[in-house]
Amino acid sequence: MAGLIPKSFIHDLLDRADVVEVVDSRVPLKKAGRNYQACCPFHNEKSPSFTVAPDKQFFHCFGCGEHGNAIDFLMRYDGLEFPDAVEELAALLGMEVPRETSVNPQAEARKRQQAADDYQQMEHAAKFFAHQLRRHPNAPKVIEYLKGRGLSGEIVKAFQIGYAPDGWDELLKALSKDQRSKDQLVDLKLVNRNDNGRYYDFFRDRIMFPIRDRRGRVVGFGGRILEGDGPKYLNSPETRVFHKGRELYGFYEVKQAHRQIEQVVIVEGYMDVVALAQAGIDFAVASLGTATTTDQLQMLFRATRKVVCCYDGDRAGRDAAWRALENALPLLTDGLELSFLFLPDGEDPDTLVRKEGADAFTARLGQAQSFTSYFFSHLSEQLDLASDSGRAALLSQAKPLIERIASDYYREALLAELARLLRREVSQVAAQVKQAPATGVKREELKITPMRRAIALLLQYPQLAQEVPVHDALGQLKVPGIQVFMQLHKQAREQNLTSAQLLELWRGTREEKLLRQLVTWEHHLDQDKISQEFFDTFLYFIDLFVEQRANELLAKERVAPLTHAEKKEYMALMQHRAQKNTGGDDSGQGKQRS
Ligand code: GTP
Ligand code: MN
Repeated sequence: MAGLIPKSFIHDLLDRADVVEVVDSRVPLKKAGRNYQACCPFHNEKSPSFTVAPDKQFFHCFGCGEHGNAIDFLMRYDGLEFPDAVEELAALLGMEVPRETSVNPQAEARKRQQAADDYQQMEHAAKFFAHQLRRHPNAPKVIEYLKGRGLSGEIVKAFQIGYAPDGWDELLKALSKDQRSKDQLVDLKLVNRNDNGRYYDFFRDRIMFPIRDRRGRVVGFGGRILEGDGPKYLNSPETRVFHKGRELYGFYEVKQAHRQIEQVVIVEGYMDVVALAQAGIDFAVASLGTATTTDQLQMLFRATRKVVCCYDGDRAGRDAAWRALENALPLLTDGLELSFLFLPDGEDPDTLVRKEGADAFTARLGQAQSFTSYFFSHLSEQLDLASDSGRAALLSQAKPLIERIASDYYREALLAELARLLRREVSQVAAQVKQAPATGVKREELKITPMRRAIALLLQYPQLAQEVPVHDALGQLKVPGIQVFMQLHKQAREQNLTSAQLLELWRGTREEKLLRQLVTWEHHLDQDKISQEFFDTFLYFIDLFVEQRANELLAKERVAPLTHAEKKEYMALMQHRAQKNTGGDDSGQGKQRS
């Protein structure tokens, strides 16, 4: 894959970006004192608890705890992965993202070039198919078909629906200039090569649905037969740019249609997505002929809080729904909503929305079965809950599933319903179901030790590092977290950093999670008391260091005589202690250096 994005670039990027502007472009902000406010886009609320601090270059919601810098905001709000969020932010600022050269820079460059060529070729193919829908002799027949299915020219254009001509090598002729581009078309599975070495188009005489990735690049196609024999749909196989389990048909289009996505409905087919959009329900996506994967669900839950899985009521639809539920278990967090809608026999969203209209379909979405309700109705389908054995079976089937859920809300809701069905006390049932490992230590559970306080203040006010220097010797202090503190201090001292930039240096490290909690920890101090507070915590470390070092020297003396230097050091330590006890402390900085 492409090389890593250099850390220095991310630093510069955060230097130039203004988190207020970035957030404001998606969620209009209001000035409130030194900060800016809005209703949180990441959870439902009536009064604003989402704040953006220009000095820290940080956003934080006191309601749901969501927080981070401009990159985090784009990741969360636009549903992007880290590198894509960096690309997006860079694009907003008109900056080019450099990549670190790897062990093999030529190979990396070649790969990058190839990826760019691949996406371009896929885009060309989509344009070619769309063009055929206007120019090909069969176009009237195809357009007739699309019209017959209720689609307007506008929707056909919005989804860039096209037509793959019925010849053997129309696309091949149009898109290949030389052997290299022929091979590329084969790699991208747009063209096949038979045993005789003959090349021919993969999609022939089909209606073409381009599949875009979350950044809008065409990565694959679905092709529907018009009439006659052969499989109804032909989908692009996996290629180096197309990974089915990670893409969702229509997701890019949903993101284009909504700045803020209230809900997403997952349906089974391409035509369902398009027909719903035609009816004005422009928030549907389709998983690509497979069960909805954890990756796909994660992508959705990064962009919205509410997902409805809408499947046929037949066996296949029910299986697909249950697999989606299983894949969602580890992702469920408080405030996310996942529900299930099963359609009447023989209907799919396309037929239903055309029969009943958008309002009726929307009403169905509103009445979708809740996660908890579907969970138990599925599990108890084959069980007789009036019998002891049926109830025992329910417990044993539900237990491992509930144990995969980290959300307190979902866990409690499921346990309550389970207890009701088992006719037991909730506490009894809860005792039998292990708690999933928490996804994060809760803020109120985080014990604020002096070290954590110092780290928190440093993270929130990096300029403290310049105000209060630290001697390297303090690194020998035996207190958990001292190394993190020392490193943070060094980072913040060497350059003027915002909280956003300082925290960014720790992305992907073991410490990141704790640091993220500390950067949003509420210190309840007045602005003018912060330096003093940091300084006091710091004095405490110095005293601790003096104690530890003095004790170390004493212990050593019991084994072997101290050297001259050690004796001098001990004296200095004692002097520090005495000064402190008589209140004559002069900050201890000088003592610590001796
Ligand atoms: P229409 O008949 O055009 O309304 O199709 P649909 O959107 O209702 O699709 P259907 O419910 O029949 O199938 C759902 C999805 O399964 C499709 O969008 C395809 O992704 C996939 N699919 C359907 N038929 C085939 C097939 O014959 N082969 C493959 N590989 N996938 C198929
Ligand atoms: Mn259909």
